[in-house]
Amino acid sequence: MSDIETPQISRGLEGIYIAESRICKVNGAEGRLYYRGYPIEALVKNSSFEETTFLLLNGKLPTRAELDDITRQLADARDLPQGVVRIISEMSGKAESMDILRTATSALSAYDAETADMSPAANFRKSIRIISRMSSIVATIGRMRAGGSYINPDKALGHVENFMLMLNGKAPDKQALDIMKDMFVIHAEHSSNASTFGTMVAGSTLSDIYSAITAGISVLKGPLHGGADEAALKMMKQIGDPSNTESYIESALAGKQRIMGFGHRVYKAYDPRAKVLKEYLLSLQEHSSEEVRRYTAIALRAEKMMIEKLSASHGIWPNVDFFAGPVYVAAGIPVNLFTPIFAASRSAGWCAHMLEYWKDNRLFRPLEKYTGQIDLEYVPIEKRQ
Ligand code: SDX
Repeated sequence: MSDIETPQISRGLEGIYIAESRICKVNGAEGRLYYRGYPIEALVKNSSFEETTFLLLNGKLPTRAELDDITRQLADARDLPQGVVRIISEMSGKAESMDILRTATSALSAYDAETADMSPAANFRKSIRIISRMSSIVATIGRMRAGGSYINPDKALGHVENFMLMLNGKAPDKQALDIMKDMFVIHAEHSSNASTFGTMVAGSTLSDIYSAITAGISVLKGPLHGGADEAALKMMKQIGDPSNTESYIESALAGKQRIMGFGHRVYKAYDPRAKVLKEYLLSLQEHSSEEVRRYTAIALRAEKMMIEKLSASHGIWPNVDFFAGPVYVAAGIPVNLFTPIFAASRSAGWCAHMLEYWKDNRLFRPLEKYTGQIDLEYVPIEKRQ
């Protein structure tokens, strides 16, 4: 390898293509998003998490028989090993929800006889188990943090309905269920985002899929990525009254603070998912609490100001995380579960990318331009200053 004197460094790998993929198209200039060629708007309107999972993993919409089959596979896998329930219980009073999710998901590998089997068939079966159980783990985290105990899953329910049962101990109302079904579809996939890339880097060493998904969870936690939904709602709580919005934003921007839920490495237009969530939120107003209506008023004023100040000039638009918080609140979801739910949904996209990348695997090993010294003389400690 020649020692390149002036390498082209792309910080954060901005603009670098790492692979070819048939899973997801993000059109950042026009604000368009497609899972396996289907517009996100059509999938949110018509699909389910089970069907979207099949689509992402298999590259096509399922037949009725195929949908019934994956629905059964996900349902059969949703019960958690008691050892994992104990980990969640032990950590609940001590750790953040994403840390519990990361640890509990990693522990699943101890209860899977196929963990070390890297055959495509075994990796597919493990993917189903991970996608199913991460939702059960997130529901159990929420349940235990609220002082409850593990709720046995109900195999007769759909994926999201069972999630809500395991979280709340009772069947969800229709509005909450409709909201959460859409949230699980909308967060399922987004091409080579940081957490998907982290998953792929781990898997590219031929480490197992539990390790790869654990890496994805670790990456998603950050407020620059999946953690922005929680951070954006916390900002709305801090703003308190809608009349404080403009002064809060003004002061934050003056202090070079980032307004969570805005901006994106790829979207330089309105994130289509944010559009869907905004419309959804507006449609919920008359059936929502004063709290949701207050957050909505704040969000709309912040959106208006940020678009006026930063969209045209800096390409900074609302992203998926901005309106997500008020929508989750409308579904009765506690703020500490926003990012874990994002992770439970995105496990479908992480697994899809891992299975696809392993078909033509190549170790990720980028370079860095060394700017330090070389050939220094070693000085014994007694002679050092
Ligand atoms: C997700 O990649 C994906 O697909 C991710 C995701 C997915 O589905 O997987 O879409 C989910 O992670 C959405 C993004 C959630 N994160 C946030 O909302 C956090 C706030 N946003 C930013 O931190 C930022 O916009 C990023 C991190 C999302 C993208 O940043 P980039 O591309 O690295 O751009 P940058 O940080 O270099 O910012 C460029 C300029 C900077 O100003 P200068 O230093 O050049 O003067 O824009 C400014 C930034 O300060 N800027 C913001 C801003 N975002 C960027 N200023 C105020 N508020 C913001 N939100």
